[in-house]
Amino acid sequence: MRVLGMMSGTSADGIDAALVRISGAPPALIAILEGHHHVPFPAYMREGILRLANGAATTTAEISELNFLLGAELARAAVAACKKWRVPLEEVSLIGSHGQTVFHMGAAARFQGKVRAPSTLQIGETSIIAERTGISTVGDFRTADMAAGGQGAPLVPFVDYLLYRDALRGRAALNIGGIANVTVIPAGAGAEDVFAFDTGPGNMVVDALVERITRKKAAYDRDARIALSGRTIPELLVRLMREPYLRKKPPKSAGREQFGEAYSHGLLAWGSQHHAGHADLVRTATVYTPLTIADAFRRFILPRTKVDELIVAGGGALNPLMMAQLAASLPGIDVVSASRFGVPAEAKEAFAFAVLAYETYHGRPSNLPSATGARHPAVLGKIVRAAKSPAKGRR
Ligand SMILES: Nc1ncnc2c1ncn2[C@@H]1O[C@H](COP(=O)(O)OP(=O)(O)O)[C@@H](O)[C@H]1O
Ligand SMILES: [Mg+2]
Repeated sequence: MRVLGMMSGTSADGIDAALVRISGAPPALIAILEGHHHVPFPAYMREGILRLANGAATTTAEISELNFLLGAELARAAVAACKKWRVPLEEVSLIGSHGQTVFHMGAAARFQGKVRAPSTLQIGETSIIAERTGISTVGDFRTADMAAGGQGAPLVPFVDYLLYRDALRGRAALNIGGIANVTVIPAGAGAEDVFAFDTGPGNMVVDALVERITRKKAAYDRDARIALSGRTIPELLVRLMREPYLRKKPPKSAGREQFGEAYSHGLLAWGSQHHAGHADLVRTATVYTPLTIADAFRRFILPRTKVDELIVAGGGALNPLMMAQLAASLPGIDVVSASRFGVPAEAKEAFAFAVLAYETYHGRPSNLPSATGARHPAVLGKIVRAAKSPAKGRR
């Protein structure tokens, strides 16, 4: 089956689409990436998403509208991607669309002054995607896991396990998106031995600083150019490493609730109080991410299992300073880009949601209870059948 996976993560930078040819069933599932395409969000949409994700006051009308507008944007991205790959839509059997998370709370917690029950909301209406592409679409992957008592995240470890498990080498898969998360696959592990959690910030804090400092002329620090022109501020770094989230025991997940707008405002306020240069702040925030990852290894991973290799994906894998600092902070572990394993760093999560959709389509569970904390494996997501379903000769 040819499956198109689509992802837009907490960075809200845009939509990644991946075309994946998939056959077989786990543990012998074969998935090969055939194409990747990135479509940046129009500015108004990114702003809308960030406002909601940062917990701004909103109306139900606004959320409802954004759900539909984003569905249309996702459909456009799918059509544009197939055009770029010269693959007729008829040859794609299925779409897996993660949607955009605007709220996620995997366990009951205090948020905006109130203890709230666990819930999660991904928007980007799948009915619109299925209607406009003519391709059956799976979405809403996280809710079934949460209904089964899980945190609804992380879901990619299922795919990490299929891709990277090894009889002799202990491996960890790291995704540096807006938030950074790690999947640990001990040598010779069974699915039940895999564990995963969010280590803390990925690119989110750096992106927010760069956007403020450049007055929105840049959305991120391409190739770490700004960071590399500054110097790390040790005093600030020590302060940042005291972040309580880092000490919290896994399973744990993070989002804009922890490292969003309020957090980067705090950093900028510290900067102006201490007359810190802008580039110095960006460099400190850039170095902070790999240091929190190495800290998570020392506290929670290496005491449990040996890791020989760390496979890095997500936009952060393209940040040379983050990658260099990561390798330097994890002596004895080979730090390599996911690209070396057949799936480019930028395409990895979209690829994963193609595989998860394929599993759902076949009625198989694809959460890892050891990673999410669910009571049992669950079939993830909801399927919108297109007028012509894959079952009727769309393979
Ligand atoms: N060439 C690059 N140099 C530095 N950072 C980059 C580069 N390319 C992407 N990034 C970072 O990766 C982020 C996007 O990562 P992504 O994996 O799409 O995250 P998410 O899954 O949260 O959307 C950008 O916002 C940026 O911070
Ligand atoms: Mg992205």
